[in-house]
Amino acid sequence: MPELHVIDHPLVAHKLTQMRRVSTSSERFRQLLTETSLLLTYEVTRELALHDVLITTPLVETHQPELVEDPVVVSILRAGNGLLAGVLQVLPSARVGHVGLYRDHETLEAVEYYCKFPPLEDRMVIVVDPMLATGNSAIAALDRVAADGPSAIRFLCLLASPEGIAALHAAHPDVAIWTAAVDERLNEVGYIVPGLGDAGDRIYGTT
Ligand code: URA
Repeated sequence: MPELHVIDHPLVAHKLTQMRRVSTSSERFRQLLTETSLLLTYEVTRELALHDVLITTPLVETHQPELVEDPVVVSILRAGNGLLAGVLQVLPSARVGHVGLYRDHETLEAVEYYCKFPPLEDRMVIVVDPMLATGNSAIAALDRVAADGPSAIRFLCLLASPEGIAALHAAHPDVAIWTAAVDERLNEVGYIVPGLGDAGDRIYGTT
């Protein structure tokens, strides 16, 4: 069964409402997105593998848990970088890949213009993009990531549409999705409704 995790937390819900408001400035939007991505990262990394290591405290030697390894984070440009800032505050030593995709506004298809990944083979990869709308960009990015043989892939977003979830899970049933909310639908030009508008424009003030 494909996995969908909707992160149900009052702080996440509150911050998301502030991000949805059309009156929220880019500066405040970026701040809220960073704060929210810290909370989302906490959830998406909940089952990371730990192993015991021997350490010395000021008092004794003791075996304590430590992460086996960091996941690799892949950001879908450009809006993914808005989430990345917070993700890297929680996972400061994670290696980061980028895939650049834009939406052809006529066909809504994803067109790749850039791709650079660290080694992904046998690694857990978290792919980040704030909006899972049609799913076209996410699927194109996941195709690229999956081709490098990671051990597991998770997709982390802020908002998802029912259409995007269905498309992503049809193309990549092994990819678990983590999102702060599932909105009602896509509109006729592929925007999430009620949504928050174009995430890249909201982050970078490009409208
Ligand atoms: N991308 C966005 O930034 N917003 C949407 O609503 C859909 C796709």
